[in-house]
Amino acid sequence: MKKRLVILGAPGAGKGTQAHQICELLDIPTFSTGAMLRAQMQAGTELGNKAKELINRGELVPDSVISALVEAELKTGRYRGGFLADGYPRNLEQAHFLDQVLKDMGTQLDAVINLDVNLEDVVGRLLKRAEIEHRSDDTEPVIRRRLQVYHEQTEPLVRYYREAGLLINIDGNGSIEQVWENIAAQLQ
Ligand code: AP5
Ligand code: MG
Repeated sequence: MKKRLVILGAPGAGKGTQAHQICELLDIPTFSTGAMLRAQMQAGTELGNKAKELINRGELVPDSVISALVEAELKTGRYRGGFLADGYPRNLEQAHFLDQVLKDMGTQLDAVINLDVNLEDVVGRLLKRAEIEHRSDDTEPVIRRRLQVYHEQTEPLVRYYREAGLLINIDGNGSIEQVWENIAAQLQ
C-alpha cells in the first residue's frame, strides 16, 4: 500500500480537506508546512514573525526556512510508518530537497496526488472560507497573488512527478464527496 505521499494543488484546491480523509484511510499522519508556519505565527516566534509578512503578501517563505522545518519534522521518527505532506513541496528546489532527505532516511515517495482544479473557482471557495476561518491570507488580492505564485513555482511539479511516474491526477472540481471517491478509488 502507498504510505509516503504528497498532496499537490492550487490554494483552495482542497488539499487540507482531502488530506484528513486520506490519512484516516491509510492510517498515516499528515504534515502541512502552511499549518506549521501558522502555528509559529500564532506563537509569535521569530520565525513566525518573519513568515507572517511573506504569507500575508501571498509569497513563499524561503526554501532554507522550510527545509529546516521539514527535515526536523521528518526526523522526529513520527513518520516512520508513512506520511502525507500537504502543501509541500512548493517548487522544484523543495522537491529535490525532499527526495534527498528521504533517500538519506533509506526511503522514497510512493505517490503524489494532484488536485486539478479550475483556478477561477477556488477564489470563491477561499472567500467563503474567509468568512468562517479568518485566515489572514484569504483576501481577494492575496488569493490572486497565491494563485500566480502557484502557477509560476508549484505547477511545474506536476510535470516533475509525472515524469518520475508518481503522479495520480484527480479532477478536483466536483463536490468534496466526489473528489474523495476519486481519490479513494486510486488508493485502493
Ligand atoms: P498553505 O497553508 O499550504 O495554503 P494554500 O496552498 O494556499 O492552500 P489552502 O490551505 O488555502 O487550500 P487547500 O488546498 O488546503 O484547500 P482547503 O481544503 O482548505 O500555505 C499558506 C502560505 O504559507 C503560502 O502562501 C506560503 O506563504 C506559506 N507556505 C506554506 N508552505 C510553504 C512551502 N512549502 N514553501 C514556502 N512557503 C510555504 O479548501 C479550501 C476551502 O474550500 C475550504 O473552505 C473547504 O471547505 C472548501 N472546499 C474544499 N474542497 C471543496 C470542493 N470540492 N468543493 C467545494 N468546496 C470545497
Ligand atoms: Mg490547506
